[in-house]
Amino acid sequence: MICPRKFNPLTGIQNFLPESNEIELISDESCSTDEFSKVFSTPKYKIHGSEKEALTAVQMALKMKDSMKFEKAKKLFEHALVLQPLHPEVLNHYAEFLEENGNDVITADHFYVKTLIICPNHSRALVNRRRTMPLVEIMDKQELDRIDRKRADLMNLNLNRSSMKRIKKEVYFLHIHHTLAIEGNTMSLAQTRTVVETKTVVPGKSITEHNEILGLESALRYMNKTFSNHSETLTVLDILEIHKRVLGHVDPLSAGMFRSSQVFVGDLYSTSSFRSGISY
Ligand SMILES: *[C@@H]1O[C@H](CO)[C@@H](O)[C@H](O)[C@H]1NC(C)=O
Repeated sequence: MICPRKFNPLTGIQNFLPESNEIELISDESCSTDEFSKVFSTPKYKIHGSEKEALTAVQMALKMKDSMKFEKAKKLFEHALVLQPLHPEVLNHYAEFLEENGNDVITADHFYVKTLIICPNHSRALVNRRRTMPLVEIMDKQELDRIDRKRADLMNLNLNRSSMKRIKKEVYFLHIHHTLAIEGNTMSLAQTRTVVETKTVVPGKSITEHNEILGLESALRYMNKTFSNHSETLTVLDILEIHKRVLGHVDPLSAGMFRSSQVFVGDLYSTSSFRSGISY
């Protein structure tokens, strides 16, 4: 009698262990290092080490993980990630570790997404993402609910008390400062405040940086004036009006208009990520 290969001939019980070559690192043909280093050719994603070295580190990390040496495993994964920051196997295995042993579903989900952007048919990452996505959605929902409750609290405050007036003023400058700082404006909080309060120039800072402050401030004033009665819904035209003020001093020709070219957020510079249909 001929036994199918996966049956143990001695007992007839199915062998539940996978083939040993199946648990080795798979290297997907369609996802060569060359391909994704072309895609992510920015200095941030500089490949510091060879693929072989990185995969060896991952193998060792997996062994450490199996023998419950999680600290060591973490160090090895991090090492592999420095060597090959865009390698699908490095990303996916590290993400599995973060999910199982670090309880960090959010970062794990992020890394699965990254893996799938680089390698859209990565079967393990697809399965993993299917598991983490709903969990992250629940977490997002909880976080958004928390923000909603905070907003409700804020709406119930008595804004006319003098202490509250002072806070409102401070927050106004903080808001302008932080909003522009994350876009690369180098003015300090005090300098931002000076420009808004006195409309005078801060020595050594570019005209554009001054204009960004003036633009945002005029947009805030416009919103305060236009939307203070909460009854109306915000329309696309309203948003374009806000945009016109934000950018009016900096780039008058594109202010208040829709952009006609594609732009990318953060570390995504490539058009190929669009083909895969994955977006954040
Ligand atoms: C915002 O609107 C209120 C009420 O109309 C007004 O008193 C206040 O001066 C406005 N603030 C700014 C910065 O324009």
